[in-house]
Amino acid sequence: TESLTVAELAKKLHREPSEIIKKLFMLGVMATINQSLEKDAIELVAGEYNVEVEEEILVDITDLEALVTNDDEANLIERPSVVTIMGHVDHGKTTLLDSIRNTKVTEGEAGGITQHIGAYQVAVNDKKITFLDTPGHAAFTTMRARGAKVTDITILVVAADDGVMPQTIEAINHAKAAEVPIIVAVNKMDKPAANPDRVMQELTEHGLVPESWGGDTIFAPISAKTGEGIDSLLEMILLVGEVEEYKANPNRKAVGTVIEAQLDKGRGSVATLLVQNGNLKVGDPIVVGNSFGRVRAMVNDLGRRVKEAGPSTPVEITGLNEVPQAGDRFIVFEDEKTARQVGEARAQIQLASQRSEKSRVTLDTLFEQM
Ligand code: GTP
Ligand code: MG
Repeated sequence: TESLTVAELAKKLHREPSEIIKKLFMLGVMATINQSLEKDAIELVAGEYNVEVEEEILVDITDLEALVTNDDEANLIERPSVVTIMGHVDHGKTTLLDSIRNTKVTEGEAGGITQHIGAYQVAVNDKKITFLDTPGHAAFTTMRARGAKVTDITILVVAADDGVMPQTIEAINHAKAAEVPIIVAVNKMDKPAANPDRVMQELTEHGLVPESWGGDTIFAPISAKTGEGIDSLLEMILLVGEVEEYKANPNRKAVGTVIEAQLDKGRGSVATLLVQNGNLKVGDPIVVGNSFGRVRAMVNDLGRRVKEAGPSTPVEITGLNEVPQAGDRFIVFEDEKTARQVGEARAQIQLASQRSEKSRVTLDTLFEQM
């Protein structure tokens, strides 16, 4: 373990040494400026400033990403793939999402209240796949701009009677930039004018070469309208998931990303979260972007109340003090007090950055606000 002098600690915390000495005195530790402090004392003082001591450095506890602990390989198990659908206008993205949802919702659930929460899960051959409802482009641009990565696999929908169009190319570029595998769904195969060969030809020019032509891109001919080919498309998704081996630890505190959020008149802040690792439970103290609270109620994609949600599961939660934004990260904390501290500090940082109009926010600006 590292030790620091009072002067060094003061510098790391952006405070005057005299203030640190005072803080130490209040905490019952008598110290001089050049005195070396042990880890316990450093942690005590740092805690007073919302800063967590981790190994050899001081970590800003308002940086949610820095707080995500890595998992031991031994604790990881397979998790469902998270899929986004992208493609040109009118090529059939919404029809495909609806079709998958309707064909795969099990008996008894069909006809029930299917609540829209921005994402849903389907079961295929005893395995699950999570689909994000958000238009692919928005999911990629807003989420990636905020540093979040939620999608594992992209389904690129191309209408067989229309071929590659500007937004098709845009979608390819987004997926490539995010290093997300692409499965091509050649849609509208039921139409007399369907020409899948042309789609393959055009996509080859953009680096997506079908397996049948010696490349490594999966092409699935489908009709989102009649349902033809959708089962094999889903099997292709499972296949890619198996190859990529998406994994998570279901036995840790949850972390993930906001899919969408809004203010509901009756329920307050309502957010759809995608749990990306760990297990989210009702009652968990949580920080979501710049908001915080305790998970009051959780509803799954079928509109049912659930008590917990594991990796790759989308759930809608209530209980936050503010409305977070799509792409915001969330983290569950050990206790409510810490969640509140971190949430409030993050809200302060946001205020500070809005005021100063500086994009870079340092600990200094945070402390000035406090
Ligand atoms: P935007 O959200 O506007 O970008 O469009 P979209 O990609 O979601 O397309 P959408 O699912 O709304 O479909 C556009 C039109 O194509 C609708 O009239 C659909 O009924 C029709 N359509 C979608 N898939 C098929 C298909 O497989 N066959 C046929 N014949 N029509 C389809
Ligand atoms: Mg649509």
